[in-house]
Amino acid sequence: MTRDNINRRDFIDKTFKTITIGALTLTALDVTKLLAKTFESDPNGKAAEKVIKLADYPDLSSVGGYTMITNKVIVIRVSSSKFIALNITCTHKHCAVDYDGESFTCPCHGSEYSKYGKVTHGPADKNLKSYKTTYDESSDELTIDM
Ligand code: FES
Repeated sequence: MTRDNINRRDFIDKTFKTITIGALTLTALDVTKLLAKTFESDPNGKAAEKVIKLADYPDLSSVGGYTMITNKVIVIRVSSSKFIALNITCTHKHCAVDYDGESFTCPCHGSEYSKYGKVTHGPADKNLKSYKTTYDESSDELTIDM
């Protein structure tokens, strides 16, 4: 072997090792970021909570009132102390459903849901996603596990 061959082989070996170590490092960093994001919204294995002050949502001040608290989640007051929180994404093909104060209708293919999110007319065959709500009367705050 000549000195040039050894240098070329060394160069290829070092380059390959560097690329391999770099790829492994990036993979490890990606996994770390992924885990961080997972625990960021779910640090204790619990769903993320959204707490709203009812004073900030006058539409929820009376039974039957409703309002969107995000662009996907509607809250409906069904009694003085009970609230429903539903994702308005149709379970058929993901269109946003409309609420008329009594039930939900999907404008895309006509699925219908009760005010509790239960399918009453297909083609959807799954209920709207619902979120647990907890009302604290003393603070007038509603906690939604999202
Ligand atoms: S997307 Fe709602 S019925 Fe098809």
